Amino acid sequence: MMGYKDNYERDAYGIVAFWLQSNLDHGRFFDREISHHELDLARTNQQFVQNMMGIWQKAEAKQSDLGNLINDSQQVISEFRNFLAFGMHKALHCDVIVSTPVALMDHMIREADESKKVLKLMQSGSRQLIADAVLHESTFWLRQMADHLAFLQHYLDPSNYDLQERVRKMTHKFERLFLQANALRTIVRKPRTELLPALNTFRQMVICEAKDLEAFKLELDTLIKQCAVITTAPPDLLEHLAREAHHFWRNLEEGIVA
Ligand SMILES: [Fe+2]
Ligand SMILES: [Fe+2]
Repeated sequence: MMGYKDNYERDAYGIVAFWLQSNLDHGRFFDREISHHELDLARTNQQFVQNMMGIWQKAEAKQSDLGNLINDSQQVISEFRNFLAFGMHKALHCDVIVSTPVALMDHMIREADESKKVLKLMQSGSRQLIADAVLHESTFWLRQMADHLAFLQHYLDPSNYDLQERVRKMTHKFERLFLQANALRTIVRKPRTELLPALNTFRQMVICEAKDLEAFKLELDTLIKQCAVITTAPPDLLEHLAREAHHFWRNLEEGIVA
């Protein structure tokens, strides 16, 4: 568990690596869910995984120029995003055979969009007000956290009655937190030059919940890797979800969009 956290770096290269890894994981997970009837789709997806893998390795090695790295990442993530949107369009027309739910495709598209937003922010070098950052991160990630739990429930075998119930309760908790973030976004109006106590209390509460969620995901990750829970989840899906929960609370703690 410590190794997992120690591996995560928060410098500019680390942030680019985080988003590249997220998107390339999506490609790897999607690969498992594309039917053999959809060879073209599978091949194109594989190509994206290869390309993103190459750029991710450069980011991890911190060798190439940061500006070029950001440009290359922007490019490949944009194309991958359009590919997913095309897949979702086909799914909505019942024109493709994949076992990925539309909501999950949309989830991946939103993360690709957020990647692009963060990379653009890094390019511009502009900083946001803490209150703006807290509201942006909360409204974006709380929906993602609720989604993760809903998707997880779908991957867990229905025979896991108690675990299903635990996950369902957590889904509802995160749905409520998401609604609260949404409410605060209009209650706390722009310009958000101060961090209101009510918003800060919310931030602290969300940090605690996201930390608990990360721990839960890592706990389940160990069980899945030992094949000790009945599930159709890919072996490293929970690590991916834990990394996103971690990224979320770290951004909240630092009061930044990253
Ligand atoms: Fe993700
Ligand atoms: Fe996600």
